[in-house]
Amino acid sequence: MYNWTELTCQCMACKKCGLANTRTNVVIGRGNINAPLMFIGEGPGEQEDLRGEPFVGPAGKLLDLLLDAMMISKDSYYIANIVKCRPPANRVPIDDEAEKCLPFLRNQVSLIKPGIIVCLGATAVKYIVDREAKITKIRGQWIEKKGYWLMPTFHPAALLRDESKKIPMWEDFKKIKQKLDEYINSNNGQVC
Ligand code: URA
Repeated sequence: MYNWTELTCQCMACKKCGLANTRTNVVIGRGNINAPLMFIGEGPGEQEDLRGEPFVGPAGKLLDLLLDAMMISKDSYYIANIVKCRPPANRVPIDDEAEKCLPFLRNQVSLIKPGIIVCLGATAVKYIVDREAKITKIRGQWIEKKGYWLMPTFHPAALLRDESKKIPMWEDFKKIKQKLDEYINSNNGQVC
């Protein structure tokens, strides 16, 4: 396992898959590296690739709105993706790309040690929860795995395409906020 400095260097230099040929930036993650809560998305989009930060484009803006509305503060979470380089035209990462990149994400999770991990969308659910799981079936339910509380929910980009996901996603975020408050209270009010 790498420390943060080593991990950053390894990610920046990575050429393990073809996404290295088309990326502008490697998008490692952003937020509090001691946070109790971690969000995992799919992969960087255009804005993220240009800026080198996850969830800064339209889906990220919607996520920010949701988090603000839930009063989930920026210091309580860290956010990353299944793959750290943008798939061309925002296609879904293929298995080979995800598998080559997952050790970096696992390393991040081990360093952060969040109590709660939110899987945003089908790709995060596939690689974090279960390869066969269907997001529409399992979203909104807590899953305890390897000492982490996992919450699968829709990807904010899906909400931009389909308004009917708004209420279920809101319900899921209420559960996330509740679990986060419980987690912080059980740690004597410390965020990290
Ligand atoms: N979608 C994702 O899954 N991740 C990002 O960082 C941006 C959009």
